[in-house]
Amino acid sequence: MSRISPTYEPGRVLVAPSILSADFAKLGEELRRLETAGADWVHVDVMDGMFVPNLTLGPPIIEALRPHSNLLFDVHLMIEKPERYLADFRDAGADVLTVHAEACPHLHRTLTEIRRLGCKAGVSLNPSTPVNVLENVLDELDLVLVMSVNPGFGGQSFIPRSLEKIAQVRQLLGERPVHIEVDGGISPKNAHLVRAAGATVLVAGSAVFKSDSIPDTIRALRG
Ligand code: DX5
Ligand code: ZN
Repeated sequence: MSRISPTYEPGRVLVAPSILSADFAKLGEELRRLETAGADWVHVDVMDGMFVPNLTLGPPIIEALRPHSNLLFDVHLMIEKPERYLADFRDAGADVLTVHAEACPHLHRTLTEIRRLGCKAGVSLNPSTPVNVLENVLDELDLVLVMSVNPGFGGQSFIPRSLEKIAQVRQLLGERPVHIEVDGGISPKNAHLVRAAGATVLVAGSAVFKSDSIPDTIRALRG
C-alpha cells in the first residue's frame, strides 16, 4: 500500500474531501472517484451520538474501505473517550487519528498512544474551545484540526471567527512541522481566506460531493 505521506510541507495546501457527504450505498466507488479527481487525503468522520448528536461509522467500515483507496485515511474521531478505540482504528487502516480536546481528559497520554501505534496524532478544537488547550501538547502533535462549524453535521455555514483562530494556532505552533486542518463550511468561495490564515489541509464535504465537477472543485480548494 503506497499511501501518500502525511509529512508537513510548508506552503503546500492539501484537500481532504469528507465522505460524510458521499453516497453511503457505494462508498468504495466514491473513494475511487476521489482518487481519480486528485484528492490528497480522505477525511472520515466518526460520530458516536454522544460527543456529537449524530451517528456515522466505525472501524469495520473503514477496514472495508481500505482496499478501495491508496489515499491517506484522515480519521476524525468525534467520540467520547476515544482512547478506547485507537488500536481498532489503527488496525482498520487509519493513518491520521484526530481526537477532540473536549473529549479527552488525558490528552497528552492519548496523543502519545496514537503515535506509539504508528499513526499521526491530531487534536481537534470545537469553535468555542480556546487554542491555549494546545500549549502543553505542542510536541506531541502532528496536526491541529480547527473546527469551523460545530461538529456533527455536514452542510453547515463557516464560522468567520475561525480565521482568527487558525492564525492563532499557527503562531502557537511556531516552526513546528504540524498541519493545520480546517473543517466545516469550506467551499471554493471561502477557501482562499482559510489558506491565507495559515491552513495546510482543507476538509470539504458538501462542496465536493454536490459539485458538478469534483476535480475542478478540488483544484479550486487547493488554490
Ligand atoms: C462535521 C464534520 C465535517 C463535515 C464537513 O462535523 O467534521 O468533516 O463532513 O462537511 P461540510 O464541508 O459540508 O461542512
Ligand atoms: Zn470532520
